[in-house]
Amino acid sequence: MHALAHSPKNAITATTKMLDRVLSSRRVTSHLDDSDTDASADDSKTKKQNLSLLASNYLSRLSHFCFCPTASLLLCLLLAIVLITSLAFHSRSFVCVSDPGSRVGFFGLDGLGSDFGSLGVPWCRSKHGKTVQWTSKDLLKGLEEFVSIYETRPIKNNIYGMGFDHSFGLWFIAKWLKPVLMIESGVFKGHSTWVLRQAMPDTPIISLSPRHPGKYLKKGPAYVDGNCTYFAGKDFVDFGNVDWKSVMNKHGITDTSRILIFFDDHQNELKRVKQALNAGFRHLVFEDNYDTGTGDHYSLRQICDQSYIRGGGHSCFRDSDEARVRSKRKLFWEKAVDIDELCGPNEAWWGVRGWMRDNFNHSNKPISYAEHFQNSRFIESTLDVYWELPPVAGPSLTHQTRYDPARATSPIVEDGRYGLFQRLGLGRLEASVFNGYTQMVYIEISERES
Ligand SMILES: C[S@@+](CC[C@H](N)C(=O)[O-])C[C@H]1O[C@@H](n2cnc3c(N)ncnc32)[C@H](O)[C@@H]1O
Repeated sequence: MHALAHSPKNAITATTKMLDRVLSSRRVTSHLDDSDTDASADDSKTKKQNLSLLASNYLSRLSHFCFCPTASLLLCLLLAIVLITSLAFHSRSFVCVSDPGSRVGFFGLDGLGSDFGSLGVPWCRSKHGKTVQWTSKDLLKGLEEFVSIYETRPIKNNIYGMGFDHSFGLWFIAKWLKPVLMIESGVFKGHSTWVLRQAMPDTPIISLSPRHPGKYLKKGPAYVDGNCTYFAGKDFVDFGNVDWKSVMNKHGITDTSRILIFFDDHQNELKRVKQALNAGFRHLVFEDNYDTGTGDHYSLRQICDQSYIRGGGHSCFRDSDEARVRSKRKLFWEKAVDIDELCGPNEAWWGVRGWMRDNFNHSNKPISYAEHFQNSRFIESTLDVYWELPPVAGPSLTHQTRYDPARATSPIVEDGRYGLFQRLGLGRLEASVFNGYTQMVYIEISERES
């Protein structure tokens, strides 16, 4: 065991961090209706959740006093045990804070500042504040149906492709929107093609990828769809270079507003939005909507991470709450970035250290803050809807350790809802399938003005 772990101060600090990890998985989005089968009284949720929070903060404070001699140490430990027991008893009440205002409450509760307050979840503003039609109940119903579909997937090990969360998101969105045509860019072995097919059994698909998925069949499982036109292998054309007018004519489609485009090709998303806009497409899903400071391409999440958005904008000041919170969270979450990783030369924090990445991090360009700001204004001016898929379940249920829940919206199945998690069949899945969440996003872009 690590020598430091013997110290009571470290034991309590570790306990505090564990609590922080659970608590910080509560998110602040309000666009979902959080009710489900046995979430009985919102009132009690709030009360119990405050109790947990108070306990966490109290433990944080205790850790400052526990440099004390033996009697005080025993007292500290005793108090910690009592509080942990009480928390275990109330663990089912670790529920979501659905009101954005409560983040302020968290931050101001004891002056320590929770991880919530300093990080938060930025999003892209849409022009008229419109949101999606589906609710959290619809998502739960969808999950109930999708788990057993997912279990029949042909590619069991889809490392480098989508895991469970995004497979569910894509399936749900396609099934809800009922497009007349589905286009995907970035196919790999064909798992996402298979997901689209499960959602819409008879709808044609067009898939673009430099390598045909059939090529992977020699080495193991892959999926090639019978009702899909492949622009792949020697027929590959980049999405931005396709003559979409003529492709639409071939498919007999005159109304491009009922087409769903799925991008999993790791290209600059600003570039892809402009190309989709030019072609008249309106419903786009981006698989890897990377958080600021991470990822191999400029994403919508990065573009909209602006200081005028709650949870957005950063400072590279090292002696700050954000810097401290970031280094603490990095201990727990593999994808969390600390202030050194976030900030490049001249305190450039936007994109990835001031760079607009593109094409799997192969073609990058430094951008000024002014340009980054203009990009967000442009994106906002095109958006009717921006909706990030929530993680399917909280980290205490899925045991995922990669994405930081402080930078994600409230999970569909919240921490503490173990019964629901099991009832939905999610407990049957291997933990590794929950590790790939990167804030998949659905956007509806406005009709092009002619
Ligand atoms: C992450 S994988 C896609 C995973 C797949 N959607 C899945 O869920 O299993 C990214 C794919 O994009 C392909 N790719 C690379 N450049 C591309 C481009 N310009 N257009 C379309 N696909 C591209 C890669 O060859 C790779 O197959």
